[in-house]
Amino acid sequence: GAPIRVSAARAMPVREAPRTLDTCTRCELGRHATQGVAGIGPRNASIMLVGEQPGDQEDLQGTVFVGPAGQLLNQALEAATLSRDAIYLTNAVKHFKWEPRGKRRLHKTPAQQEVDACRYWLEQELTEVAPKVIVTLGATALRSVLNHARIKLQDQRGRPLRHGDTWVIPTWHPAYVLRVPDPRARTDALADIVAALRQAQALSE
Ligand code: URA
Repeated sequence: GAPIRVSAARAMPVREAPRTLDTCTRCELGRHATQGVAGIGPRNASIMLVGEQPGDQEDLQGTVFVGPAGQLLNQALEAATLSRDAIYLTNAVKHFKWEPRGKRRLHKTPAQQEVDACRYWLEQELTEVAPKVIVTLGATALRSVLNHARIKLQDQRGRPLRHGDTWVIPTWHPAYVLRVPDPRARTDALADIVAALRQAQALSE
């Protein structure tokens, strides 16, 4: 009879409902990462912060926002008088995507299909924590939380959006702020994040 055609995607042993991040094969990123990095925070947190993906330090240490972007985030949280321990912190993508550059591992933006595959984990966190307010850090987080691949951060930034029962507050990613070359523009971008965090606090009460 005719040969059975199996598409490349079907032939890959994708586990549809993995139990743990470290056994997740919903995308390929886990194969090149040190470990999966889960979200952290109280299960009854009213505010959730969503970043893009673990960076080099997060990949090595297994904890979210502990590298340079995390330090800037800590600064913003302090300025907003928000305790890091009171909020739930996670990422749209749970494994570090990188490419070698000499001895360094250079961050690569996750592909849409990787973000889509990893929404499986984010949705579990959203169900479990059921935050009142989600602050999305950067475009990847915003697109993942809204499940809208083409939405532009520039158009939405700084304005709270109603998404189901939840407020979504889109702001910059802290790693972006670190890359703003002009010091004044950098200070402004940091102030934008602080304002978003204050707004989150107000809306969570
Ligand atoms: N950038 C992110 O988006 N998340 C982290 O956890 C660290 C850096």
